[in-house]
Amino acid sequence: MEKALRASRVRLGVCYYPEHWPESLWEDDLRRMHEMGLEVIRIGEFAWSLFEPEEGRFTFDLFDRVMDLAHRHGLGVILGTPTATPPAWLTHRYPEVLNVSQAGVVYRHGQRRHYNYNAPVYRDLCARIAGRMAAHYHDHPALVGWQIDNELNCEVNVFYAPADQAAFRVWLKDRYGTLERLNEAWGAVFWNQTYSDWEQVHLTGPTPSAAPNPHQALDEKRFISDSAIAFARLQAEAIRAHDTTHFVTTNGLFGHLDSHRLTDEMLDFFSYDSYPQFATLWPDGGDDPLLDRRWGANLSVTRDISPLFCVMEQQSGPGGWVNRIEQPTPRPGQLRLWTYQSIAHGADLVLYFRWRTATVGTEIYWHGINDYHNRPNRRCAEVAQVGREIAGLGAALAGARYRADVAILRDYANEWDGELDTWHGPYERQSVAAWFKALQHRHVPADIVYLRPETAASDLGRYRCLIYPHPTILTDDAAAVLKEYVRAGGTIVFGCRTGYKDDRGHCVMRPFPGPVADLCGVTVEDFTRIGPHQQEPTIRWEVSPGHPGPFASGPFNDILRVESAEAQVLAVYAEDAGYYAGKPALVEHPWGGGSAYTFGGVFTAPVAHALADHLSLVSPLADRLTVPPAVELAVREQPNSGDRFVFLLNYADTPQTVRIHREATDLLSGERLDGERTLPPYEVLVLRC
Ligand code: GAL
Repeated sequence: MEKALRASRVRLGVCYYPEHWPESLWEDDLRRMHEMGLEVIRIGEFAWSLFEPEEGRFTFDLFDRVMDLAHRHGLGVILGTPTATPPAWLTHRYPEVLNVSQAGVVYRHGQRRHYNYNAPVYRDLCARIAGRMAAHYHDHPALVGWQIDNELNCEVNVFYAPADQAAFRVWLKDRYGTLERLNEAWGAVFWNQTYSDWEQVHLTGPTPSAAPNPHQALDEKRFISDSAIAFARLQAEAIRAHDTTHFVTTNGLFGHLDSHRLTDEMLDFFSYDSYPQFATLWPDGGDDPLLDRRWGANLSVTRDISPLFCVMEQQSGPGGWVNRIEQPTPRPGQLRLWTYQSIAHGADLVLYFRWRTATVGTEIYWHGINDYHNRPNRRCAEVAQVGREIAGLGAALAGARYRADVAILRDYANEWDGELDTWHGPYERQSVAAWFKALQHRHVPADIVYLRPETAASDLGRYRCLIYPHPTILTDDAAAVLKEYVRAGGTIVFGCRTGYKDDRGHCVMRPFPGPVADLCGVTVEDFTRIGPHQQEPTIRWEVSPGHPGPFASGPFNDILRVESAEAQVLAVYAEDAGYYAGKPALVEHPWGGGSAYTFGGVFTAPVAHALADHLSLVSPLADRLTVPPAVELAVREQPNSGDRFVFLLNYADTPQTVRIHREATDLLSGERLDGERTLPPYEVLVLRC
């Protein structure tokens, strides 16, 4: 069943920590939330010691009072299970619960997420607290749902405690059966790594040059993902033993976790924590960085897990820990803009993080809606404005689906393998960012889709074009799905390093791009990394005079050889490529009713634009709206009625002018718009057109 949030209207809420504040403030806090149009609070996720002050003694009084008060103020409550922060009594009594770094350092009490997923006693105690909470609260009238733990794999996503080592051996025995098969899968013949007893087998450890066996490292990430999923499952089952009425979700999108499988196997829908200001701190190739707008890529991944989802934490102030992460204060209008960014991408429930900035602890600089002084500020006013707008728009919009005809493909095996592999991980990140930026600037709404073992060609058929930049690991089964998709009329685009590894990370003894060589009509006759003191060679477009180029080919070049009479060379390496000047760099190949495109380089935004022009990837609303590049266009559409909501989001700090060719209504202001309309910085329009 599709794992989508089902809501009759879009709602707003806020993360609240009643335990951080004197009880005398609660009433006023909840009253003001309600006045601002907030309807849901999330509480409890770090408060284990309050629920279970000593082992086996459970007290619910404090949260009972909060829940009752919330109900009186018309607020629904999402309860978090508090397992991201084990109590001191627990880790003191059961130190085997603590996580350990790869170097063997034990993480201590004093922050959060210092536990491991595999210690049997921790799993039991977590299942118990989750079950006790569900037994106590399942019929509370304020309850709307459950959040399991908090951000699985945030802060740390590797685990080397003795319990993990033991569980890894069990996992490997299950996967491989025999040591012979394990040795084969891990290529243990290389550098004498052959194992002759299971007790010799470990998770990756410190090694000279920090270069572990890559096949072992890939399995380690699969194991961590499975461990996190099993840990979450215990809690989901403990909750559902008492409560089958309310939703169960979890929040966050972090490394070494197959969030698709997690969601499919036990959640009602997936939730995401959206902090767009992080993206303003990241490097971004090119001189027109997408900044906070780039966060839409993460929302697009979330949408692939749950087409309609919850943003459990929406940034509502400048972010910063006492020791790191220093983000600028959101400018007037940006909180509203980011809320609509989430909603435009498919969020039907958005909770701000957090009601008031903490006055103690690691996050005294991670600001909430209210400041320490608790007097009205501009962030309160901005949230209240969104509250009023959503009260008007929410019912019509809920359930409408993000519309995209183009998708960027990704998959977990390549993501995890690419963390270690310097020949594809960084290229993948560059190419995805380049395509995302190009499609954003062109106003071509795009999805990000994970190719999974269960993905069928028919699932991909709704996209006219797929971009799968560097699927280094490409199985025959996955290739068969892609071929079927293209045969049925689809278009697929690959970059360099496609198709030379199997799912264990072994390099396959056949010409690149391996299982899609026939689909692409090319092989790779030679390749090179571009060294730090070399210029990236350029490519010269051979067709479509609209693309004069030259375009940089990126930090890696596959030199293509045409193998099919039907293949057409669209671009070649230019003279600056030296010995491979004139060789094919971009080749189009028809396949059934569709085509495959192979680019020998790593994508930059200009190359993506040139190819997108060639493929006629243009705004689906080009006949109705002319939108400047700084403004995002997103479309949500009701599946049954076809009602369409067109979001125009101005991320720029300057006014931007859109041209509306046919009269449209702005659903936020109620104004009818025609002709030119200038959007002030960070302005949002939601058009019916
Ligand atoms: C999230 C987390 C919150 C809070 C916030 C700001 O990752 O779930 O608990 O820490 O970041 O740092």
